[in-house]
Amino acid sequence: MKETILFMGMQWGDEGKGKIIHAFTKRLGCDLLVRFNGGANAGHTVESDEGIRKAFNQLPSGSGIRGVRSVIANGAVIDPIKLAKEARAMDKSQFIISDAAHIVTQKHLTADATQEQQRWTKIGTTKSGNGPAYSDKMARFGIRVGDLMQRKELLGHGQLEHLRKALAFANAQVMNTQVYLRSVQKSEEGVMILEGAHGWELDIDHGDYPFVTSSSCGIGGAAIGTGLDPRTITKVIGVVKSYSTRVGAGSFPNYMTEVERTELNDHHAEVGTVTGRQRRVDWIDVGRIRAACQANGVDEVALTHFDVLQGFHAVKIVDEDHVVTMEGWTGKPASKCKNFEELPLRARFFVREVERRIKVPVRLLSVGPKESQLIWVNKA
Ligand code: IMP
Ligand code: MG
Repeated sequence: MKETILFMGMQWGDEGKGKIIHAFTKRLGCDLLVRFNGGANAGHTVESDEGIRKAFNQLPSGSGIRGVRSVIANGAVIDPIKLAKEARAMDKSQFIISDAAHIVTQKHLTADATQEQQRWTKIGTTKSGNGPAYSDKMARFGIRVGDLMQRKELLGHGQLEHLRKALAFANAQVMNTQVYLRSVQKSEEGVMILEGAHGWELDIDHGDYPFVTSSSCGIGGAAIGTGLDPRTITKVIGVVKSYSTRVGAGSFPNYMTEVERTELNDHHAEVGTVTGRQRRVDWIDVGRIRAACQANGVDEVALTHFDVLQGFHAVKIVDEDHVVTMEGWTGKPASKCKNFEELPLRARFFVREVERRIKVPVRLLSVGPKESQLIWVNKA
């Protein structure tokens, strides 16, 4: 392969990775997309210029683009019922599923809800069964896709039979994806994209435990969750939202006034894709993002939801303990701009200030939900 590129969220998920990955998949002529962690707790929305919205939960975000193969690797967990629904209208011959990915059963869904009741502090999980499925995996109690499809001991078991039927559409494509991906890397031209679910702040080891998800969301997780040599990852692109949002409990910056929060939600309603819950919102926290970029060797950043910041009297950047206040901007809406120079001057200042503080170049701005609402940014 010419390139193996990792895309990951640098905050609390919901940075808008779906759209960015979708855009890069087309632009780079990427022909292989790989999901390496998480499960149905992730939600990515992609909207075409014609206004057709697609939500991805377990499949990588560019799935369904003609000629693109989608892999769900060993580090992900799979809810067969939901996956079958998600894949319904797509060309299933393009899906490849790891025989070592673990499955989410009804037991896990139930446990996700009851464990939340028993916790000393509530996390606010998405109740997708992920935590309990990963617990069973680590306790060597889990059921892998390969076991579900092939193990005689599990045949005839009522509920598993139901899950097996749901996953039957993929049966021909269940394989050792570690071997498969490595062979593709060696023998084919083209570009492979590794898609991280969630965001660095929700990482099981590096987030603010216990307010985290149950998988590894960074570059290390990409290596473990695919089995690829970490040194074969040629580029890491961090997806950063222009402000902070978090769905669920845990630490979060607290610098926005109530009036600013209301204004932001008026510009763009911040509601969870999976759970429909209201997300907390605040100003961008570049201190945390800088640390996240360093921990994951991020080469370039895509800054998303940038259009949402337009129209504020003042915008703020949080960096460790201090807050930088910058004048806001009006004028030509970012959502209508095609290149960086068209943006209002103060909008450009904001981007350059973020870039300077996170110490990673911003290469792309997302300025609206539609596919074409993207601005490529040249080096400062
Ligand atoms: P779980 O992953 O469902 O166990 O949820 C654990 C925490 O991670 C909760 O606060 C969820 O809201 C959050 N979370 C999990 N996946 C995502 C995501 O894709 N985007 C945003 N938050 C997420
Ligand atoms: Mg999401």
